[in-house]
Amino acid sequence: MSDEGNDVPDTITITDDRTGKTVTVPIEGGVFPSSALRQLDPSLFMYDPAYLSTAACRSDITYLDGEQGILRHRGYPIEQLAEHSTYLEVAYLLLYGELPTESQLSTWNYEVTHHTFIHENMRKRFVDGFHYDAHPMGMFVSSLAALGTFYPESKNLGDHEGKHKQILRLLAKSPTLAAMCYRFSVGLPFFLPDNALSYPANFLTMMWKIGEYEVHPVLERAMDVLFILHADHEQNCGTTTMRVVGSSHADPYTSAAAAASALYGPMHGGANEQVVRMLGEIGSLDQVDAFVADVKEGKGRLMGFGHRVYKNYDPRARIIKQTADEVFQVTGKNPLLDIALKLEETALKDAYFVGRKLYPNVDFYSGLIYQAMGFPVDMFTVLFAIPRMSGWLAHWQELLDDKDQKISRPRQWYTGVDERDYVKLGDR
Ligand code: CMC
Repeated sequence: MSDEGNDVPDTITITDDRTGKTVTVPIEGGVFPSSALRQLDPSLFMYDPAYLSTAACRSDITYLDGEQGILRHRGYPIEQLAEHSTYLEVAYLLLYGELPTESQLSTWNYEVTHHTFIHENMRKRFVDGFHYDAHPMGMFVSSLAALGTFYPESKNLGDHEGKHKQILRLLAKSPTLAAMCYRFSVGLPFFLPDNALSYPANFLTMMWKIGEYEVHPVLERAMDVLFILHADHEQNCGTTTMRVVGSSHADPYTSAAAAASALYGPMHGGANEQVVRMLGEIGSLDQVDAFVADVKEGKGRLMGFGHRVYKNYDPRARIIKQTADEVFQVTGKNPLLDIALKLEETALKDAYFVGRKLYPNVDFYSGLIYQAMGFPVDMFTVLFAIPRMSGWLAHWQELLDDKDQKISRPRQWYTGVDERDYVKLGDR
């Protein structure tokens, strides 16, 4: 029974009206097993494009309540993690289920920090081969897959310790690869990792160091907070891709490259780049109303607004707004901020956006911070991919340990023509 004293059963009964056959299965946590359908008729499938109503896995990692605007990792609210934690600690939490003890954290930080270097041939023979104006995210995606060729043992998924090492490598080398792709795209020599620095400080140094350079502590912390906010977001398009590719037992580098490819799209992680481009195109405060009117007429979308799951304010967007204030005190205000604020205010008062429950998402303000910190727009999705690596790997690990899982293989609803005979070329 659902509640004490309440007689409503926690089950669902499905009747196949063609046969009159009935099956009753339990509802647990708002989910019922699709095996119910197979019991009714093994040739019966549900049509669910984009998995709007399908839970494809059980997961202990991230809890998201889109109506309430709640995001928790392993039970810890994102607001508390963003305030008190570091990205590497959150990565450990996602991957291993608990916050590390002091000694676990120091070993973890040491291990990740000491895998940051990349084989010289990755740069000399692979990254240097890209065209001079290659998009850094395209370079990053391909480099992840290429990196796997240096670690053929990563294909051995039965080797528990080996798996841990690949996780360390992917977390540690992602910022190095990202900075390498950026410096190549602007013609700067690569700057080697400095393992005395924190994870975010090391990344910022690899990005910006030319001669004297010291990371500003406010920017170091802001980078870390942005990494925390992007670390995981349950079964989004990129993470689902990681699980689908991982289910074929591809090595983690190839699976992560596939996940990063999914993230690249403008409807997903590419949206932060599109937000800044959109704000630049709007250009001034007096153009905001006209832009919103165009969106309502279907001429494009308001990038950085709306979410498949959040039908309330994205909690990450709220934290990012605070981080933006702190960053702008150091870097000076991003001139596009006023347009973003006016756009948000206008949209949140407009029946079109209110009625469809469209609120700012994580991408609405993150791009403004990245831009103020000096990142070119082309790098924004790479900045999303670096921390998302921990979420992808946590889900990959969970998938491989899940006895319910098999290779991903959805069914289809065939709507093509029926059998017909081949027509020779001359008779067509
Ligand atoms: N601007 C204008 N209209 C919108 C927007 C938007 N940003 N998002 C959704 N709508 C409308 C859409 O046209 C539809 O209207 P109607 O019912 O009249 O056809 C309605 O709202 C529902 O939209 P949907 O496309 O069915 O919603 P979805 O869940 O498939 O899409 C989304 C979610 C995030 C892809 C979409 O909101 C969008 O394209 N947003 C802009 C891109 C963006 O900011 N993406 C980043 C997502 S957060 C980071 C991440 O997880 O990657």
